[in-house]
Amino acid sequence: MACSTSSSLVSRMFIMSTLLVAALAGNFFQDFDITWGDGRGKILNNGQLLTLSLDKASGSGFQSKKEYLFGKIDMQLKLVPGNSAGTVTAYYLSSQGPTHDEIDFEFLGNLSGDPYILHTNVFSQGKGNREQQFYLWFDPTADFHTYSILWNPQRIIFSVDGTPIREFKNSESLGVPFPKNQPMRIYSSLWNADDWATRGGLVKTDWTHAPFTASYRNFASASKNSGWFSQQLDSTSQGRMKWVQKNYMIYNYCADSKRFPQGLPQECATTNL
Ligand SMILES: *[C@@H]1O[C@H](CO)[C@@H](O)[C@H](O)[C@H]1NC(C)=O
Repeated sequence: MACSTSSSLVSRMFIMSTLLVAALAGNFFQDFDITWGDGRGKILNNGQLLTLSLDKASGSGFQSKKEYLFGKIDMQLKLVPGNSAGTVTAYYLSSQGPTHDEIDFEFLGNLSGDPYILHTNVFSQGKGNREQQFYLWFDPTADFHTYSILWNPQRIIFSVDGTPIREFKNSESLGVPFPKNQPMRIYSSLWNADDWATRGGLVKTDWTHAPFTASYRNFASASKNSGWFSQQLDSTSQGRMKWVQKNYMIYNYCADSKRFPQGLPQECATTNL
């Protein structure tokens, strides 16, 4: 009797701890809606995996159920493998309306063996034009890698596998608007952009390789008491970001003086480079 009671207690505790772990790990059914693509976006494995696909007729996309006003958001992505030229996988935070804020990761596909470009941008109050682009130091199609956005009132930090690649600081003191009033949703989509994505539009999508598929897992959004709300880059992280920017950055709007003949945007004065 005592024995069966304690074993049912143990199994109940086991079930509860399993539920708790599942809640912390996130579940795509619980956290996201597939919003378009007519069945090309799928949630699989009891909510642990999400896939988007693209064929000649359509791409697909999803968005978070929740809105976030600041956040530390991690997602693991495995990008379209093989010949992904012409395809773009966008993964971003955005608010709505003409003066929206937005924090973007976009992955521009390529021919087999040629490097993806990771394109980043930040919009505040409807204004973007803050592109930075990178190659990656690994093949992003061979396995899942973690892409993170830390957004607090002082800074936005883009990271890849825990290595910061870009920091956009709050430069309101210089008159530059910073996203801090408009809640954002998480969005992702896989679509055809062969008019510009690969080598500036020179390489077109090869539809004989369709459908193209990108996969997502291990979504996590940190709770507010975990320190990220006031987090900044320590000197080790700054060193790693410098390493990425020195070796893998291929475009930086803050270094493009031809594009801004009137002078570089104000916030470029505070960009760590
Ligand atoms: C694709 O590969 C070419 C050749 O290596 C490279 O110039 C280009 O930056 C790569 N990425 C994209 C998205 O075009």
